[in-house]
Amino acid sequence: MLDRRTLLNSSAAATATAVSAPNSAEANDTVSPTHNLQNDIEPRGSLPEGRVERLPELDMESRLDFAQAFRKWSLRDFGRNNLKRLYGMLEDKNIDPTNSPPIDDLLEIIGDDTNIYTAMRCKTTVQQVMWKNLVDGFHAHKDLYLNELASAQQQGPGTLELNPDLDIPEYAKHEIHIQPGGYIGDPLGGYVYHYGVNVFTLDLNSEDIFHRSLADIVPVPEDGKMNSFLDLGTGVAQLPLAMKERFPDADIWGIDTAAPMLRYGHMRAVELGLDINLCQRLAENTQFESNSFDVITAYILFHEVPTEDTRKILSEVKRILRPGGVFFPVDFKTYDQRPPSANSRLNQWWDHVYNNEVWTEEYRDSNFSELMREAGLIVNKNAPTLSKNFWNSLMATKEA
Ligand SMILES: C[S@@+](CC[C@H](N)C(=O)[O-])C[C@H]1O[C@@H](n2cnc3c(N)ncnc32)[C@H](O)[C@@H]1O
Repeated sequence: MLDRRTLLNSSAAATATAVSAPNSAEANDTVSPTHNLQNDIEPRGSLPEGRVERLPELDMESRLDFAQAFRKWSLRDFGRNNLKRLYGMLEDKNIDPTNSPPIDDLLEIIGDDTNIYTAMRCKTTVQQVMWKNLVDGFHAHKDLYLNELASAQQQGPGTLELNPDLDIPEYAKHEIHIQPGGYIGDPLGGYVYHYGVNVFTLDLNSEDIFHRSLADIVPVPEDGKMNSFLDLGTGVAQLPLAMKERFPDADIWGIDTAAPMLRYGHMRAVELGLDINLCQRLAENTQFESNSFDVITAYILFHEVPTEDTRKILSEVKRILRPGGVFFPVDFKTYDQRPPSANSRLNQWWDHVYNNEVWTEEYRDSNFSELMREAGLIVNKNAPTLSKNFWNSLMATKEA
């Protein structure tokens, strides 16, 4: 039976044929492979002073704005009312809402409360509307975007290494966040992800704001030497791009299993004129030499990885980090760091069940600092953070 991944890829295959036969009717919407990407390419350019391109159609932008506003309303106004409701239900049973009971007990207490389930339904609907809008909108111009990626692949600055034979682990193939095709199955997945995450984070992705703030706080080794940097699970390479701006003379690398994400990241590196190196490789087998990097990061990778594979990645980090080097894995707090409130426990459950965050429960139940220690790293639980309440504030070093 055909699934979404097959459909998305077959539309790409048809497009690839059209691109290689530029006289065919389907290839009208294309750009020259030598087009200068540094001076824009998308149909509608970027906002003044902006670094992220506008979407190809105003309708698409409006629908996305609506999705974002709807998400904001369901989390903030509607969400706050529901929070009071949930906490009231628990207090009626003399349960402290700041320390959640196990999820099955919590769901039993909530019963079939319409408001609480409506709030969850709203969040799911936003995700569905947002992805559909982006997938449909980008695929309506698929020739243009695929050709833009193909064109960027022949240009620098920076390098892109793809490996079509990479044996991608099953856990990295899921449609995480219910993104159609997931990270690997839609050739335009990088575009879709970059704009979709902006809705989810209520605008923090719009001008790479979040990643640029994160790059500002990435810790450097005590000896001050920062010549080589690697980002694991780099996605569309927003962190490497921001790190290149902070450390223009350093060698900046990013690896990921997903070619669509890396191709889009490389295209943006070319557009922004930033020299970064992206490779399609596994975080558990990076192929870099031992002691290669001064600093290694991983931003929101580990909550999407099963614990047994996390162990493999951490031992690879220990191998390729140089003595005295810093590892900065920014992710959500695990439950050993802070037991969940009823609200956060319910949100995790929604994320897992309705947003297809397949491994997030396993991640939250793990003890990440202990896993780093077992891998032979020296753990620091007071790492710089953009929010002490929200992020894990963990880093580690390799013995000098
Ligand atoms: C939630 S995304 C985070 C992307 C990026 N760090 C960001 O700032 O948006 C997780 C990324 O990790 C990648 N990934 C998952 N497992 C991986 C592995 N074993 N090795 C390398 N990349 C992996 C996925 O393809 C995806 O792009």
